[in-house]
Amino acid sequence: MTVRARRFPGLAAGVVGIATLLAASAADPPAEKKAAPDTAGFRDAAAPFLKQHCVSCHGAEKPKGGLSLAALDPDLVNGKDVEAWKAVFERVTLGEMPPDSEPRPDAKATARVLTWVRAELEKAGEKPADAERKLQLPGHGNRVDHDALFDGTVTAPSASPPRVWRMSTHAYASFVPRVSGLGGKGKVVIPQPFSTSSADGFKDFAALFAVDEPTVGQLMRNARRIVEAQTAAKGGKSVKEFAALLAGTGPPADADVAAAVRKQFHLVLLREPTADELARFAGLVKKNVADAGREIGVKTALAAVLLLPEALYKVELGAGKPDAHGRVMLAPRELAYALAFALSDDPPDAALLKAADGGKLATAADARRELGRLLAGNPANLPRVMRFFEEYFEFPNAEEVFKDVQVERGNQWKPEVLVSDTRHLIRYVVGKDKDVFRELLTTNKSFVAYKTGPDGKPVAPVPPKNSKKADLGIDPVGVYGLPKDWPWTPDQPVELPGDRAGILTQPSWLAAYAANNETQPIQRGKWVRERLLGGVVPDLPIGVDAKLPDAPEKTVRERLAAVTHETYCWQCHRKMNDLGLPFEQFDYLGRSRTAEPVADLAAPKVPPKKGQATVTPLKDVPLDRTGRIAFSGVPGLDGPVPTAVEMVKKIAATDRARQVFVRHAFRFWMGRNETLADAPTLLAADKAYVESGGSLRALLTSLLTSDAFLYRWAK
Ligand code: HEC
Ligand code: HEC
Repeated sequence: MTVRARRFPGLAAGVVGIATLLAASAADPPAEKKAAPDTAGFRDAAAPFLKQHCVSCHGAEKPKGGLSLAALDPDLVNGKDVEAWKAVFERVTLGEMPPDSEPRPDAKATARVLTWVRAELEKAGEKPADAERKLQLPGHGNRVDHDALFDGTVTAPSASPPRVWRMSTHAYASFVPRVSGLGGKGKVVIPQPFSTSSADGFKDFAALFAVDEPTVGQLMRNARRIVEAQTAAKGGKSVKEFAALLAGTGPPADADVAAAVRKQFHLVLLREPTADELARFAGLVKKNVADAGREIGVKTALAAVLLLPEALYKVELGAGKPDAHGRVMLAPRELAYALAFALSDDPPDAALLKAADGGKLATAADARRELGRLLAGNPANLPRVMRFFEEYFEFPNAEEVFKDVQVERGNQWKPEVLVSDTRHLIRYVVGKDKDVFRELLTTNKSFVAYKTGPDGKPVAPVPPKNSKKADLGIDPVGVYGLPKDWPWTPDQPVELPGDRAGILTQPSWLAAYAANNETQPIQRGKWVRERLLGGVVPDLPIGVDAKLPDAPEKTVRERLAAVTHETYCWQCHRKMNDLGLPFEQFDYLGRSRTAEPVADLAAPKVPPKKGQATVTPLKDVPLDRTGRIAFSGVPGLDGPVPTAVEMVKKIAATDRARQVFVRHAFRFWMGRNETLADAPTLLAADKAYVESGGSLRALLTSLLTSDAFLYRWAK
């Protein structure tokens, strides 16, 4: 990746900063000197592993996939079998070989083999494989063996890699008004320069984003807009130090220059410039003024501060002398920023900065003390805590899925009400802070068209206006299955009828995992497989026509079985179908039902009204609500389940589901997937959660004071 700083001479200081940082973050680790192959590692780790787990299928005779692993050359520098080793590395890294019909290899033995292959590949001048890159992406975290993470056998100290973590889109949306007065909080009135991930899973992973050239271009245009606002006489956040520097002609006075540079540092980075920075930026102001005149010169120099890496990234490199394990702790300022952005979209508050600058943010105990303060209220009121639940459950997607009823019956389908209700439920459960995960999955309470007034107190929800035309099936009451005479009370949460329990039976979640007029059992089942059971479903292969057959006289269950029970399809679909089908009890809007309407081909066709298509009469087929848990890897869990609620309750009661939840929390708050080395951090977090009776606050405190959060491997 290259950033051509020269093309933008005026902003050189900032852009060169970005370029340097990009180079630092994107560069491969320095190649090691060509070394002799580690034959002992081959003999002790790799050879026995291949023999035990691979050669039965990949022998010398007629090997599977055309790949023989019977006599691979252990000398990768020699080059003969490098391609084969790369393929082995990739398939084993991703947990795809041996196939899951075979016994799982021991996780630590696997890790040893991979370490060996990786080192040898590097000796041969090969770059870290794409497989490792994939493992770092959201949606792939489950590929690390669950039992190996939680069986307590990994005890080595952990840390995270040193890194720079690009500011999130949310943080940028908060940054702009803060420094410029442009727009309100959270409202970006200038273009968002940063992209977000469209992939499944968490959106803000440190490894996902680098700042590429178009982004830099947008950032520079935005920086100019921000400076215009900062220096405008009207509107924006006119800064008096900048106005003073802009007034007058000729070379500016040193004192005015210094005051303006210091002010911009305080606005953007919340700190004094160092003597060196002050000299550098003061020099830049003067040079620019000499080159381009007072106004342009001053403005470009002020814009350069907005483009400093420190303004656009959370810098997490650590500082100080490495400890006995080769780790350094985050510098106090780095830790202040890490804690602040873990919970909100804003930089550290005054108290955090004071602690950092006063030498009181240097230990895990210091971080714990600050977290006690920051988490004192309901944690779900903190933007990033709510965002965790939104990205884990993905219920806000209900607002994105178009529904046919929107056309059929005007504007009565209001997914934003349902999404808001689920947010209230999360706030309610997290506020109680007891058995949070299980409560979220099993509570029969819900909010219904819940509203609060400006004082934060609940106000009576309003029934749809055109009640004559209103179909109670799609107004909030009908979607939740409440009786027609439900009193529209503000006294909430209320208890829902017996077939509802928790977020996965909230209409928002069900409508999100459904299409415009049909349920999506595969999507629902995939969610349960990945986010509750911690399983892996390989990506849908390119070339598979992932459509249900067009057979309106059949139920979705029947149409799904008709295509996915073929052996090739079933190797993946056996992991999703039976976990998603129990949710067929709920239709594509999240309404509970006892029958599914299908086309009645035997009935006489209804003659079409003028100008309309022929209507096929429908008949109700009684609904099959059953499913099956299989391949869970949890003793005693597999077996048939009568309903979705029973299934979710059964899974929610397991240690596995809770630990998988902890793994997801780890990913969200560390901004990366876990590795085997993070096992102690995960175990400690799980323990803190269990021992506190299921407190999210305890879980968060454990994660945000863990080695993985506080320490970085020294370069
Ligand atoms: C039960 C039989 C079986 C076992 C055991 C097995 N494999 Fe495979 N392997 C296959 C089959 C079948 C294919 C071809 C289908 C595919 O690519 O998934 C394959 C494909 C591969 C490929 C891709 C070949 C290519 O050139 O595209 C690699 C690499 C591989 N296996 C590595 C391994 C390794 C390493 C092990 C041991 C850890 C292993 N396999 C164990 C059956 C097996
Ligand atoms: C390697 C794994 C794999 C194989 C093999 C596979 N699928 Fe899938 N299939 C998936 C995944 C994963 C999804 C969910 C896709 C997503 O996330 O949107 C899916 C989704 C589907 C869907 C539902 C799409 C939707 O709108 O919800 C259908 C239908 C489907 N597959 C049919 C098939 C058929 C038919 C075959 C065999 C010819 C097949 N699949 C083979 C993994 C697989």
